[in-house]
Amino acid sequence: MNKIITVLPGDGIGPEITAQAVKVLKAVATKFSHNFTFNYGLIGAIAIESCGDPYPPETHRLCTACDAILFGAIGDPKYDNDPTAKVRPEQGLLKMRKELGLFANIRPVELIPSLSHRSPLKEDRIAGANLVVVRELTGGIYFGEPRGRSLDRLTAFDTCIYSAEEVERVARLAFRLATGRRGKVTLVDKANVLETSRLWREVVTALHKSEFPETELDFMFVDNAAMQLVTFPAKFDVILTENMFGDILSDEASVLTGSIGLLPSASYGLGSPLFEPIHGSYPQAAGKNIANPIATILSAAMMLRDAFGLEREADAVKSACYQAIEDGWLTPDLCEEGTAKTTTEVGEYITLLVYPNGDL
Ligand code: IPM
Ligand code: MN
Repeated sequence: MNKIITVLPGDGIGPEITAQAVKVLKAVATKFSHNFTFNYGLIGAIAIESCGDPYPPETHRLCTACDAILFGAIGDPKYDNDPTAKVRPEQGLLKMRKELGLFANIRPVELIPSLSHRSPLKEDRIAGANLVVVRELTGGIYFGEPRGRSLDRLTAFDTCIYSAEEVERVARLAFRLATGRRGKVTLVDKANVLETSRLWREVVTALHKSEFPETELDFMFVDNAAMQLVTFPAKFDVILTENMFGDILSDEASVLTGSIGLLPSASYGLGSPLFEPIHGSYPQAAGKNIANPIATILSAAMMLRDAFGLEREADAVKSACYQAIEDGWLTPDLCEEGTAKTTTEVGEYITLLVYPNGDL
């Protein structure tokens, strides 16, 4: 199979973790006789530095002319600490999602049995948890207009806006996903306060009735959902929610497994699908070879399965990650000081598990 993959390493630890995922993808190509071409583009702070634009036109061109995108991380403290910055790295990621029409972000939270002791929850609470957050990604308060400041700059506003069509297309994807799982969708919203949430309920209820009556649908307010996630996480199957609630809840859900450094994600929509770890750019760790590459490698596994239909290859990558963890090849986020392996060591171990005869 011939595939073109656009790699956007981005900022902070992005380059180190994507490098490991590319190694693994190269091993998959050799072992299973595929031909993957990797094209590299700039995004985020590094793109601002090179050309003043966090999502340059050349990067967009690479993203439209490929079969899938592998993305590292975005963000730099230089901009976080400067509220007056006109151009911000995060705008690059938001612009890419919007321009590629990637309206659905899938964030699966799967426990890794050998790590259940690392969960911040007691083992009996975490037992049986296996959920997916389906986050709407191109609408809501992240993109709504108007946004800005009053003339005296003492008042600021953002707008949360959703159309029925935007809700329906992401909800359809959530119901389809649930059909292949335990068959339950929980719509998380704030319908006791927000008009947009009431529209979500209306649209999702109608879609459920007309197209997915065999799926179970329930509703939960976001404040309650935040609490339920850390008390009874096993209750959830598919959580469907709007952009900002999904951002917050998926970070919360991700640590249930013991480290946010383990969780992959995929974004689908109109353009090339995008695969990226849930975590951010972790600037304190940049260049130190200590970041966990597994979330990015598991994102590459999602790419193999969902974008390319390569089940065996995806299984090989996923089991290699689990095996590495079981064999104790752990970065510092997952073990005691002194016993940790480096980013490169973990990446190379996984690469060799996928294809023992390959080059590193
Ligand atoms: C994420 C990130 C982004 C978001 C930021 C970097 C803009 O937190 O992918 O979850 O809020 O969507
Ligand atoms: Mn986030």
